[in-house]
Amino acid sequence: MKKIVILTGAGISAESGLGTFRDEGGLWAQHRVEDVATPEGFQRNPELVMDFYNTRRAQSATALPNAGHKALVRLEADFAGEVVLITQNVDDLHEKAGMKRVMHMHGALSGALCAACEHRWPAPMIMAPGDACPACKAPAARPDIVWFGEMPYDMDIIYDHLADADLFASVGTSGNVYPAAGFVSEARRNGARTVEFNLEASAAGALFQDRRLGPASETLPAWVSELLGA
Ligand code: APR
Repeated sequence: MKKIVILTGAGISAESGLGTFRDEGGLWAQHRVEDVATPEGFQRNPELVMDFYNTRRAQSATALPNAGHKALVRLEADFAGEVVLITQNVDDLHEKAGMKRVMHMHGALSGALCAACEHRWPAPMIMAPGDACPACKAPAARPDIVWFGEMPYDMDIIYDHLADADLFASVGTSGNVYPAAGFVSEARRNGARTVEFNLEASAAGALFQDRRLGPASETLPAWVSELLGA
């Protein structure tokens, strides 16, 4: 086996204390998606949106990676072939755990973006509406997060990876949001084995040939030990 492609979602960060979206009492039970995760919501009420991401950025800053994140670091370091990690998450727990290659397809709390000139820079802990872009000076700073209705990052590179994956693993995602929810079908179409890690089978669960049910902090270390034969 030469190439493993892994997709992670909010579930891998749940045991690090970061809220998921659709679990009981999750983020989408506390906020309306259209208010805090769409360009229209940002136009309507930028304070509310900046506040939402400032809160999540502060939570992410103090959160620690768990054994699930660390298992993927071990796999990346010790697997003889290639490991490609694609995350829907905007926290930096994969990086904090020591992952070398992380593709943030939905952006990252650590990033700021200029809506006027598309310049990107490290986000301050607190962002406010009208913050100036350090490059073009326009008062157009926004979180570098991909909102609903916007195109996720690196899709062409992601599909190239799915085209030659031997094994595709999906961890802690409910399989509700496309294009990520379609990756398993793309991988299978290209001949990859597919495995889902979740507390219970997700919406796309039936599409996976294998599943490991339980908390990722337990299922991932066991899986990595199996793959590495140790
Ligand atoms: N271990 C494994 N899986 C878990 C754990 C855990 N400890 N805790 C929760 N899960 C699973 C849940 O069962 C659920 O299937 O994680 C999944 C979380 O699903 P969501 O809250 O929908 O999060 P996610 O799938 O990452 O959302 C995708 O939706 O709102 C957008 O952009 C946002 O990236 C996000 C996207």
